[in-house]
Amino acid sequence: MERGHGTGEIIVVEDLVKEYPNGVLANDHINMRIAEGEIVGVVGPNGAGKTTLIKQLTCELLPTEGNIYIMGIDIVKDPANIKPFIGVCPQDGGLIHHLTVWEHVYYFARLKGLPKERARENTDKILRMLNLESHEKKVVRELSGGLKRRVFVSIALVNEPKIIFLDEPTTGLDPISRMEFWKIIRKVNDHHSPKTTVVVTTHYLEELDYISDRLIFINDGRIVLEGDSMAVRRLILDYDTKITLPKKYKEVVMRTLMKEGVGCKVKEEHNKIHVLLTKDDVSAAVSEIIKFTSDIVLSSPTLDEVFMGVVENEENTD
Ligand SMILES: Nc1ncnc2c1ncn2[C@@H]1O[C@H](COP(=O)(O)OP(=O)(O)OP(=O)(O)O)[C@@H](O)[C@H]1O
Ligand SMILES: [Mg+2]
Repeated sequence: MERGHGTGEIIVVEDLVKEYPNGVLANDHINMRIAEGEIVGVVGPNGAGKTTLIKQLTCELLPTEGNIYIMGIDIVKDPANIKPFIGVCPQDGGLIHHLTVWEHVYYFARLKGLPKERARENTDKILRMLNLESHEKKVVRELSGGLKRRVFVSIALVNEPKIIFLDEPTTGLDPISRMEFWKIIRKVNDHHSPKTTVVVTTHYLEELDYISDRLIFINDGRIVLEGDSMAVRRLILDYDTKITLPKKYKEVVMRTLMKEGVGCKVKEEHNKIHVLLTKDDVSAAVSEIIKFTSDIVLSSPTLDEVFMGVVENEENTD
């Protein structure tokens, strides 16, 4: 059955449910539509269900319920027909350590069914695009983590797929390598006409700035927020400062902050509370809180903590 194709939507997911045999509900009625050429970031804390979603979109895992259409093909019923059009960079993939970078990409091109000449041409082209040319004769075992991730992406791209799925491609990379990596992904997205669609997962909050056109936040297997990346950023990254203080001051501090018109989100943890604030409110909040205690720590919130803010925001606006 055709679904989505012809309307510019290259991926259509309807009520997708994945329950593992041990009873874990990893994806709980996920609905999403992705347009051709978009870069979509799927973001969520550890265990949110990102890898489970990617595995179903790439035919590695069968859904428990729901439909997935890619380029109009029902991929649950007809996985073989979609595979030539997609490239995958898995979260936990292995490389063959004694092969060189060039050999690696070339062999995968052949495995994906490209004839020798095209496999050779595409390998050269992809290594050039990912700035791996000067490393092409190195054996994979000798590469840094960042270069290894680029080899993975080269493999995903070598058959010139229309869609690439990248599951946490920047894990373990330093901030500079991560930024370079995202520049390359933009280049890949832009290289073909129509543009290559990119679906990428991450749990690095700092990366949201430059990775995607659109963000889909998942938590506990469900989409909790999605939208244009600027709008989503404004909503969640506003709460970019955290003040941690002893829990016994919660009532009095909350009362005072409310009286002073300081908006915040509060999370309890053991004998502490974490107060999430916007940059603009930090100095006002600190000057109120130190009237009660000097036992305070300022830091950046984690993704889980920001999520708490997001979910509450959504509930409050309902
Ligand atoms: N094969 C499996 N069998 C049973 N439960 C699983 C399996 N794989 C994942 N899970 C569970 O499903 C939930 C979602 O896991 P998933 O790997 O999709 O999360 P994730 O968002 O990719 O997390 P991370 O950021 O750590 O990669 C978790 O509770 C996890 O423990
Ligand atoms: Mg994962």
